[in-house]
Amino acid sequence: MSALLTVDKISSGYGDIPVLRDVSLQVGSNEIVSVVGANGAGKTTLLRSIAGLLPCTRGTIQFDGRRIDGLPAHQVVVRGLVMVPEGGRLFPFMSVQENLELGAFNGSARPQLQATLEEVFNLFPILASRRGQLAGSLSGGERQMCAIARAVMSQPKLLMLDEPSLGLSPLMVERMFEIIAALAHSKRIAVLLVEQNVGDALEMAHRGYVVERGQIVKTGSGPDLLADPEVQQAYLGL
Ligand SMILES: Nc1ncnc2c1ncn2[C@@H]1O[C@H](COP(=O)(O)OP(=O)(O)OP(=O)(O)O)[C@@H](O)[C@H]1O
Ligand SMILES: [Mg+2]
Repeated sequence: MSALLTVDKISSGYGDIPVLRDVSLQVGSNEIVSVVGANGAGKTTLLRSIAGLLPCTRGTIQFDGRRIDGLPAHQVVVRGLVMVPEGGRLFPFMSVQENLELGAFNGSARPQLQATLEEVFNLFPILASRRGQLAGSLSGGERQMCAIARAVMSQPKLLMLDEPSLGLSPLMVERMFEIIAALAHSKRIAVLLVEQNVGDALEMAHRGYVVERGQIVKTGSGPDLLADPEVQQAYLGL
């Protein structure tokens, strides 16, 4: 099987400061993959490197049969690889609907804007009822949903989510993960999820990777990693 995303031994960092070293991972079509690790482990750096927002100093990235390392970020988006940054980064003084429409700016998504908007409002009914409201006045959970929905508007093949559960109540966290799983299933979108919330993230994932100090130290199926004594001790407080 050729994976949808293949990251092969990439290194990257900020200026002279190396952060990622020799990181390799894969995401298959329709697969949900979680990358978990502590604060500062390099999770956001990994997503930014894949998204083309941070150059790789070594290694290669293949997406959907083509090399994407070295491409500018907007060209990566056009190919169907979209990142939802931590906190969502909506435009606060624009309405929910205007934010969503901006997600469909690229050439192939634009003609289907109306149809995708309907679909997104069906997936996220709360956004339909708040379509005219300023994005800046949404609750934390609604804002996160709006950010994910905006990414869906671009018709991605792979969605990369940076800490979608951050700042949400336990109940809302559970709901958020359910929504992501349902979205992946119904739209046949692959998901690469980055989380400090190790338990929930591994529970919903087909496979996972554990990152420590810029390197992948463990990988396996979601259930196997959850049952791993080292993972339990380091991340689940067991
Ligand atoms: N713009 C930057 N300039 C310099 N160093 C940075 C920059 N952004 C991140 N770093 C450093 O890179 C390392 C990895 O940071 P990163 O944000 O990738 O971690 P993370 O795993 O996403 O952490 P968190 O769970 O807190 O979001 C950290 O040591 C951090 O201080
Ligand atoms: Mg981060």
